[in-house]
Amino acid sequence: MDKSALQGLLRPKSVAVVGASATPGKIGFTVMDNLKKCGYAGKIYPINPTAPEILGFKAYASVLDVEDPIDAAVITVPAKLVPSVTEECGKKGIKGLIIITSGFSEVGNRALEDEIVATAKKYGTRILGPNIVGTMSNSDKLNASFAPFLPLPGKSALISQSGALLIAIDAATYTRRVGFDKMISIGNMSDVDIADMITFLNEDPETSCISLYIEGFKDGRRTIEVARKAKKPIVALKSGVSAHGAAAAASHTGSLAGAAKIYKSAFSQAGIIQAEDLDNLFDRTLALSQQPPLKGENILILTNGGGVGVLGTDAAEKYGIPLKFAPEDVQEELKKHMPDFGSAKNPVDLTGMAGNDWYFETVNFSHGHKWVDGLVVLYCETAMTDPMGIAKAIKDGVDKSGKADKPVTVSFVGGERSEKAMHWLVENGIPAYAAPDKALNAMAALREY
Ligand code: COA
Repeated sequence: MDKSALQGLLRPKSVAVVGASATPGKIGFTVMDNLKKCGYAGKIYPINPTAPEILGFKAYASVLDVEDPIDAAVITVPAKLVPSVTEECGKKGIKGLIIITSGFSEVGNRALEDEIVATAKKYGTRILGPNIVGTMSNSDKLNASFAPFLPLPGKSALISQSGALLIAIDAATYTRRVGFDKMISIGNMSDVDIADMITFLNEDPETSCISLYIEGFKDGRRTIEVARKAKKPIVALKSGVSAHGAAAAASHTGSLAGAAKIYKSAFSQAGIIQAEDLDNLFDRTLALSQQPPLKGENILILTNGGGVGVLGTDAAEKYGIPLKFAPEDVQEELKKHMPDFGSAKNPVDLTGMAGNDWYFETVNFSHGHKWVDGLVVLYCETAMTDPMGIAKAIKDGVDKSGKADKPVTVSFVGGERSEKAMHWLVENGIPAYAAPDKALNAMAALREY
């Protein structure tokens, strides 16, 4: 893989928009507008045969008229013009093309796609797409796409084979409070594929977790090999697992979506963690981007409510997490921070009387104890406690234990105050969920990893 070409493609220092337009509503306008309004600091060159300037940037009739070097070009001209534009971009020495244009292999026009790939190869230019929304990078303030805004900042990178889904996930990052540094629409994968992306993101300092929405691999064997070598967690939502779904994927991106079982075993060989659905992709991405992997077998559940404790215990079994009673010495210590009618076994029920101090003491002790490999902290909103106070006590307890390599997941069940407290936890690096089942599922992802 040519690292500098992919760096130029995904984290460019300068961008041309070939097919830039001054007409609002056109994709060539939206891309220009996005580059400008999202605050991209690199050079922007609109390319248009007649316009002298677009959105305040001097325009050029061809990339060949630009004197300075250009890293990436976003292509928004109709399909029939893409071959000649690719040739010009190759001659200019542009490292990567972000080809938004549709009308290639996804509609059976394979010859046109092969032609642009052959031209690009001649010059060593890499192609992202065609048939994509574009690419985004928060750390570069780069929105080289027609998605309306950059995602909520975070440490994950999303690679999506569906453009529309990428735009929807982009918007959902703000309501779900799961941030991403990069979002990359990969479309037809005529050249750059998922294996290239994993290789690149594995070295990218701003990415701590790689999230995939996949309909099908193009080169499965190579993808498995690079995924297996990756140092970062990879979580994938594979669609097209039903017979009808596979047919739909074929007409969407031209991918061969295969049997669920084949993908499942390929993922497990590759060390790729699967997400069950979109909701689960968010949940698992959050945990894998914020917490270290679980390195042992012992999980301790702390709770102030018997009900959520039982729900958590059921979920542990459902996700294959063996729950054992804590050893005597651990139980003895925990008993100091609960009333007589509490339970120090596992789940540890601090009872509804638990306030900030008991949460702090028990989290701090358990997270620091050698028997505990991972901690799941559950909380039910009560009239006697302030969720934000509990959130801060949990974070304090974790920080003061000094065990940064031990995972923690949290669930608060309650209303608006609990939601705010969970947002605060997530902003401070602790994944928090609205249901105990989700906190256990997140821990299961860290266990699988
Ligand atoms: N170099 C640079 N610009 C050129 C050009 C060239 N050689 N030839 C034409 N242009 C300009 C046009 O003049 C036009 O600018 P203008 O508005 O100033 O006239 C601009 O490029 C765009 O061309 P236009 O013919 O108006 O195309 P369009 O905007 O209607 O459609 C696409 C172009 C790419 C958006 C469309 O073909 C397409 O593929 N749409 C689907 C995109 C999509 O959904 N992708 C997948 C998402 S999952």
